[in-house]
Amino acid sequence: MQEASQDWMKRVHDFGHGHLLRFWSELSSEDQKSLASQVQSIDFQELATLFSGTEKSVDWSELSRRAQPPIAIRLQENSPAFSKAEALECGENAIRQGKVGMILVAGGQGTRLGFDQPKGMFRIGPVSNRSLFAMHADSLRGAMRKYEASIPFYVMTSPATDLATREYFRDHHHLGLKPEELIVFCQGTMPAVDAATGKILMESKSQLALSPDGHGGIVASLDKQGILKSASERGIEHFFYAQVDNPLVRACDPLLIGYHLLAKSQMTTQVVKKRFGKEKVGNVVSIDGRTHIIEYSDLPDDAAARTDQDGELSLWAGNIAVHVLDLGFLAEASRGEGGLPFHRAIKQVPHLREDGVLEKPAAPNAIKYERFVFDLLPLAERTMVVEGDARDVFAPVKNAEGAPTDTPTATRQALSMQHKRWLEQAGVAVNPSVKVEINPHWALDAEEVRMKIQKPSHILVDTYFA
Ligand code: UD1
Repeated sequence: MQEASQDWMKRVHDFGHGHLLRFWSELSSEDQKSLASQVQSIDFQELATLFSGTEKSVDWSELSRRAQPPIAIRLQENSPAFSKAEALECGENAIRQGKVGMILVAGGQGTRLGFDQPKGMFRIGPVSNRSLFAMHADSLRGAMRKYEASIPFYVMTSPATDLATREYFRDHHHLGLKPEELIVFCQGTMPAVDAATGKILMESKSQLALSPDGHGGIVASLDKQGILKSASERGIEHFFYAQVDNPLVRACDPLLIGYHLLAKSQMTTQVVKKRFGKEKVGNVVSIDGRTHIIEYSDLPDDAAARTDQDGELSLWAGNIAVHVLDLGFLAEASRGEGGLPFHRAIKQVPHLREDGVLEKPAAPNAIKYERFVFDLLPLAERTMVVEGDARDVFAPVKNAEGAPTDTPTATRQALSMQHKRWLEQAGVAVNPSVKVEINPHWALDAEEVRMKIQKPSHILVDTYFA
């Protein structure tokens, strides 16, 4: 055995993870190589610090008590600083000039949805039955058509979704995008550890129990994989960021980008008014002059229920995970000490026992560590919060049919309702019982529909405008 390899093996033992090499002598040389590379990429010191809890832990109750509503551009109010028209023009110009790229995070596995392929492949078009990936790509193609610009599409996968996602794009002609406009990249992983002992769990004799490092892992991945550099070389200055599960999002929304630019914000976030205090969305708040997001699961009931003098929810701003991020800010964050904080989740993780048998635990047994992209917000000197109309910007697919919210049916309904509104604004009468769907490559909004439809008409059957 080489000197160098003995070094890393010693390190594994020194940190108390000698069990990872228990089956080493039984492995083929290929499996040994694979295990060695997994183990060598682990920062054992970081893991030890995380497990011992000596990393800076957050007191959410205390933070929530001090949390104030964010300073935001509300839907029904004009911004005192700049007009909507000014912002729109500014955002449109940036897109036309090729300064904007789009990031879609698609590393999650639709576990809650009960779909065993990458969630982006889930079919959601109310009439067309297009996939989530296709909806986002068409929305982006709509923006490229309107602004006669090329907009690179950066799709983040995880080891669990990477291969299937790449094959899907290949088999579907890159969903109409030019090959150079589609950049698929895979996020990093973190080992799952035993919740009682902190020992790294193994999935098989040559495979650690690894899981995606959270969407916050994007910061390190963009840097490590040279994407920030290549994006900068092609003139990108800002990224429009969205989640694969929300097909209502308007790719590269020019108004949001415009507000971001006019405010010289480093990170801008679009929010919706929460329907009730404990709604299952992150809470965008201001604490000591910085913007933070407190997850619904971390927000105590009293803070969630707090109201202002008008009886409105004090912490009203719900995170829909639509952001605009400056490339320079991301580059700076990727160089920052230690990176974003890790959040821990206690999960059920199957693992190899000492005798080499796989154990499927009946109860949560392991800690998974994840970074969240929105923890970039408090690091930014300048942020911006802009309210959107939930009917137009937020209908995520999260749960299987039968759940009270965020089901495929609810999302399809929201899409169809939005497109009905656009048609009605163009003078088209739509039978209440029919479903309609507009491909954004055909028309991006009510205004474009109005320009396309010259004569009033009446829609009596399900219709797809493409
Ligand atoms: C998330 C937000 C929540 C927000 C809601 C809006 C977090 C922790 N919370 O909740 O504040 O109100 O969306 O819909 O994000 N993903 C990766 N890699 C990962 C983990 C996730 O790419 O390692 C992607 C998923 O594919 C998905 C998105 O991130 O597109 C959100 O992840 P998910 O875990 O589903 O977050 P939610 O609990 O729905």
